Amino acid sequence: MKILVTGGAGYIGSVCVEDLLNRGHNVTVFDNLTEGHKKAIDRRADFVQGDLADKAALADLMRTAQPEAVMHFAANALVGESMQNPYKYFYNNVSCGLNLLHAMVEHGVKRFVFSSTCATYGMPETVPIDELVPQKPVNPYGESKLIFEKILRWFDEIHGVTFASLRYFNAAGATEAFGEDHRIETHLIPCVLQVPLGKREHAQIFGTDYPTPDGSCIRDYIHVTDLAQAHALALAVKKSDFFNLGIGGGVSVLEVIDACKKVTGKDIPVVKQSRRPGDPPRLIASAGKAQEVLGWRPQFDRIEDIVSSAWNWHVRHPAGYGD
Ligand code: UFG
Repeated sequence: MKILVTGGAGYIGSVCVEDLLNRGHNVTVFDNLTEGHKKAIDRRADFVQGDLADKAALADLMRTAQPEAVMHFAANALVGESMQNPYKYFYNNVSCGLNLLHAMVEHGVKRFVFSSTCATYGMPETVPIDELVPQKPVNPYGESKLIFEKILRWFDEIHGVTFASLRYFNAAGATEAFGEDHRIETHLIPCVLQVPLGKREHAQIFGTDYPTPDGSCIRDYIHVTDLAQAHALALAVKKSDFFNLGIGGGVSVLEVIDACKKVTGKDIPVVKQSRRPGDPPRLIASAGKAQEVLGWRPQFDRIEDIVSSAWNWHVRHPAGYGD
């Protein structure tokens, strides 16, 4: 299939592009490189540097790439930043995404895979979280993704765009070639691994008084190649739908730090900090629907294996993508 991937130079996008190419698809990456890195684009893909705000560039892209499907990763994804700059999140994640959908419709492209998030659920009272849990986002990031999901429903009904909206839990890990290199790093696993890499003095735990067994927040960490597998399968959906992507097992911040110590064989000093605003205590997916409907079979269920793949990538790429 000919697939257009927006944000294919970013963390999850780059791994999905590699996976699509390995499966024999033909891929064009569209990325403005503000968050992504040129070196994160698989050399087998075509690359067009451009911005989703640029409608003329999008029309050109549709004409030249002639995609049969679009995977849309390009977005801003930091919860904390969205609380300070909601304009950036609604503009980039909603308005620019809408330009993409419009260009697709104009060029008769009817298949769409969307990077959504469990942040659309907000702070659910019960876990595990299935797709029927009410969506009540608690920050502009989650709200922007929820708005886009609603837009997708209308583009399906009115224009016949079939979509799969994939609500990720906590993406982590790496492949041999592609890994996580954010210009501003706030995610737990890469932040903790910066200590044994010699880039940070100590790891931080944001909150030790949550109502969880060890007092730290619990998340559902999913390996980025398992996410990629779900995206490839989602290309085949016949009916538009929403899928949670997580492993269904909860791992606390303290357990992640322990796994990092074990995998790296190094001591990791830890500093306890107060809670980070907006952090739900516990987010765990019920991902049965993706397994049943998409035939998704995640391969990684041990946090040590996920951390180990991330660690191997960082050791091989100490300066990340180096740009
Ligand atoms: N944390 C620490 N120390 C750190 C970094 C993070 O204790 O140095 C904690 C956070 O407070 C949180 C947990 O580790 O409790 C995970 O934090 P991340 O920043 O790695 O991930 P989040 O769960 O906050 O966010 C992720 C994605 C978002 C997505 C969100 C859904 O990065 O894009 O899941 O809740 F929206």
